[in-house]
Amino acid sequence: MAEIKCIGILTSGGDAPGMNAAIRAVTRAAIYNGFSVKGIYRGYKGLLTNEIVDFKTQNVSNIIQAGGTILKTARCKEFQTPEGRQQAYANLKSHGIDALVVIGGDGSLTGARIFANEFNIPCIGLPGTIDNDLFGTDRTIGYDTALNTIMECVDKIRDTATSHERLFFIEVMGRDAGFLALNGAIATGSEAAIIPEISTEVDQLGQLIQNGFRKSKNSSIVLVAESPVTGGAMGLAERMRREFPEYDVRVSILGHLQRGGSPTAADRILASRMGAAAIDALMEDQRNVMIGIKNDQIVYVPFSKAIKNDKPIDRTLLETLRILSI
Ligand code: F6P
Repeated sequence: MAEIKCIGILTSGGDAPGMNAAIRAVTRAAIYNGFSVKGIYRGYKGLLTNEIVDFKTQNVSNIIQAGGTILKTARCKEFQTPEGRQQAYANLKSHGIDALVVIGGDGSLTGARIFANEFNIPCIGLPGTIDNDLFGTDRTIGYDTALNTIMECVDKIRDTATSHERLFFIEVMGRDAGFLALNGAIATGSEAAIIPEISTEVDQLGQLIQNGFRKSKNSSIVLVAESPVTGGAMGLAERMRREFPEYDVRVSILGHLQRGGSPTAADRILASRMGAAAIDALMEDQRNVMIGIKNDQIVYVPFSKAIKNDKPIDRTLLETLRILSI
């Protein structure tokens, strides 16, 4: 195995709170262990356009608390082509980079996996996405902050929902995964969560809402995961308006505000541990793995497992939500 002297770091795909804490941890742990570091701007795009600069410890000062990513991020189509990756490799070599740390979600780690295999370059992935949808890790960087943001927003919406005695459908992000919707619903005492993993919930929704209103409730909140499977908050609200015209239905789509803000302590600590672990992994000759966390222990998850391997959602949480929303 060729000796590693210089490590490149990039963030890619949708930004997530805690990415900066991860950049800081990778940079500082690398320098502490005698490596040099290059920051690559705008994800894989910056590899192609040569936006690569030396990173010293000062480059990552005062960023642990900042949302977004100081390295910027992008979704890069050219990197999906063999020609694009060839160019990226040439640029990487011209900067003397021998290993890569990629912070991002499913798509970004897929890119890292292909690149690593094609050019035999050591790549370590850090799971950076609010969606929490990467297999092999209990948590992804950004998920806890997004969950807390959802909680604050839903708490506020509840005030107006209660005052007006309305039924609210609140749409949250998650791409194809329902972690944010389900745990967001539990954290806010919502009446239901509609998630893509469990489509039968959609059919039972009318019944559930009716029961709630008939019994003790004059207002209801339903968290809906964005997804063609759930139909999104708009789709569900339309259906409810048709089926139960007596209810005063409103929709709120939380959108990109879920990706912003200063990371929570949990995300800062997770990102710091994972960032340092990425350097440990390289020093242990680990190749092409994602850093994960399982039962509060750092684990190495091969890219082949982490990517496109449906991470199961804990169905008992849905039952808990049902029990607690009577
Ligand atoms: O993967 C993170 C995420 O925020 C998803 O939850 C969402 O579906 C998607 O990115 C939105 O992407 P964009 O910012 O490109 O619209």
